[in-house]
Amino acid sequence: MTTRVRITDVSPRDGLQNEPGVIPTSEKVRLVELLRAAGVDEVEVSSFVSAKWVPQLGDAAEVFQGLAPAGMQERGAGGVRQTSRTVCLSALVPNNQGMQAALDVNARAGRKLIEKVAVFTAASETFSQKNTHATIAETIERFRPVVEAARHEGIEVRAYVSCIIACPFEGPVAPERVIDVARQLLALGIDDLDLGDTIGAGTPETIDALLRRFDEEIGIDSHGAITTLHLHDTFGRAAECVKAALDRGVTSFDGSVAGLGGCPYASTPGRRAPGNISTETLVRTVHAAGHVTGVDLDALEVAAAYAREVVTRARAAAAKGGAA
Ligand code: HMG
Ligand code: MG
Repeated sequence: MTTRVRITDVSPRDGLQNEPGVIPTSEKVRLVELLRAAGVDEVEVSSFVSAKWVPQLGDAAEVFQGLAPAGMQERGAGGVRQTSRTVCLSALVPNNQGMQAALDVNARAGRKLIEKVAVFTAASETFSQKNTHATIAETIERFRPVVEAARHEGIEVRAYVSCIIACPFEGPVAPERVIDVARQLLALGIDDLDLGDTIGAGTPETIDALLRRFDEEIGIDSHGAITTLHLHDTFGRAAECVKAALDRGVTSFDGSVAGLGGCPYASTPGRRAPGNISTETLVRTVHAAGHVTGVDLDALEVAAAYAREVVTRARAAAAKGGAA
């Protein structure tokens, strides 16, 4: 059966948070506009986290403020086209402080510019501590006021579970641990449960085994929220994992245009780990499996070329010790 598959591009957030340099705000804005023009369903634009920990995304509010009104996106290097549907713009928030910063953006814009926020925890205690200085239980407590505020404002909530296959500190992670955290997140009343293979350790076999257990215990498409798969492509097997997940009934995936990213925990000295699965590979894999997306691959290639240009410039500047 042909399914309409939902595509979220997380490159402006997951991709750029791992860059050694800080990309100028205007270039981030342009990248987001090119992704909107390519017809992805959602762009994860930035994070309202501590700039002390993630200085690369310290301009989250400014990036949102720089975006064009919904429906007016630039196509390629040429003119502006009116899109028939709007693209959901989302942001990562770790706690209520981040949520309030996101709400301030909407208040200043006078509209729901940010339509979805994403909270994040992990199936590994050590990763949770390293990433957010909190236990898994503490992160979930932090999410309660976020979900409450989101409900009040009519904003959707995505919740990530990192380390669904393996943790860079603890090694393999059993599916039961993922399912336990997923249940707690679903009980909060989230709209999108995002399963993250943070270090790209997944194989088609391990992804299939996890999703089979998940389907038996919770149900991939029967828990009232979307189930999304967020793959990193460290060992080049992410496209095979997408196929395995499609076969299990997953209909929502994250990608990062040009494969931006590269988890610092998966890198070795002198060698950057590859980033998230590239959105181009993701979309081609979905189409090759006989399913459809809203993405225009030519327009996506324009966004990918721009993303490569921007990070190449920023990496060169960072290597020289200056700003981009
Ligand atoms: P904290 O420092 O551990 O503790 O922050 P805190 O809550 O006591 O706050 C201390 C300071 O941070 C205070 O400032 C707060 O105001 C400030 P000070 O008094 O020292 O000047 N603060 C904030 N500032 C801005 N925005 C906020 C905020 N909250 C507190 N929201 C925190 C806890 C979680 C904020 C911090 O540890 C943090 O920002 N960590 C970064 C986490 C992150 O962005 N990780 C990467 C994203 S997750 C990921 O990539 C995985 C994913 O892709 C899925 C996958 O692949 O698996 C999603
Ligand atoms: Mg990620």
